[in-house]
Amino acid sequence: MSTASETFAAVSALVRRETGMIYDPGKEYLVEARLKPLADKAGCSFEDYVQRIMTDPIERRRAMDALTINETSWFRDHAPYQAFTDTMLPALLKARSATRHLRIWSAAASSGQEAYSIAMLLDQHLPPGWTSEIVATDISSTMLDRVRAGRYSQVEMNRGLPATLLVRYFTRVHNEWEIAQHLRDMVTVRAQNLAAPFLGLGTFDVVLLRNVLIYFDKETRHDILRRMLPMVAPEGYLLIGSSETTLDLPPVLAAAWQREQIGRVQVHRVASALAERPVVPAISLTGA
Ligand SMILES: C[S@@+](CC[C@H](N)C(=O)[O-])C[C@H]1O[C@@H](n2cnc3c(N)ncnc32)[C@H](O)[C@@H]1O
Repeated sequence: MSTASETFAAVSALVRRETGMIYDPGKEYLVEARLKPLADKAGCSFEDYVQRIMTDPIERRRAMDALTINETSWFRDHAPYQAFTDTMLPALLKARSATRHLRIWSAAASSGQEAYSIAMLLDQHLPPGWTSEIVATDISSTMLDRVRAGRYSQVEMNRGLPATLLVRYFTRVHNEWEIAQHLRDMVTVRAQNLAAPFLGLGTFDVVLLRNVLIYFDKETRHDILRRMLPMVAPEGYLLIGSSETTLDLPPVLAAAWQREQIGRVQVHRVASALAERPVVPAISLTGA
């Protein structure tokens, strides 16, 4: 079998191909810590397990899932949620007064705290007669199952959830906390690899693409931000993480995304010239 560095290079190339995530040299310990339990379960050595995921698609999916970093919390960074309530939501209530419907996408949802933080705000601030849909997507099926379950440990609850909201929206079930059914009903859960085409998702008034771009290389980040343009509805907003930037975008993409400051938060909006452009179908249906 190969040396440790060859094994790591093979895993790193596979992860990059499958998910767009970058595992640079120096992360060997992390890869082994995440995959060793799966190798043990499969009854083989770490090196043999790496060989196996090259050819076994089911085990490969499991391994990719185990290699995702799912760090998250309620109302993470606080300021984006304040900006949502104070500025984005009032503007969208005006912009969507004809349809009275809002669509929000939590595009790297992890265990769901981001989607459910928005659900709690909509529950409190959306006027009567309005409807909303929050679409929570992730590449990890384990995380998607967690969003569906809507159950959290005490440690997770302690990360950013105000006590008033715990009392209002959660019920204790054994040693976990379960979020209210009416909030779960607001969230649609779906698998979506950000490195793959966005199909059948529709457009969104707010896209939360937070704390996930950092795991990709520049090329993948730019490609995602290019494909994200038609996903944000006119007058809609894109939010990226506080440690993420669009300052290195190539000129055409930089011109397409307009940066706007709301308090301490920088949001992105589709430049008006692009937003007004009619959508051109990819395939001509006329046969001409
Ligand atoms: C650090 S969490 C961020 C969660 C949340 N957005 C937040 O800001 O708290 C990153 C999430 O991105 C997901 N992820 C990683 N690569 C992905 C990809 N290629 N497509 C979709 N999701 C991906 C991971 O599974 C993980 O749940």
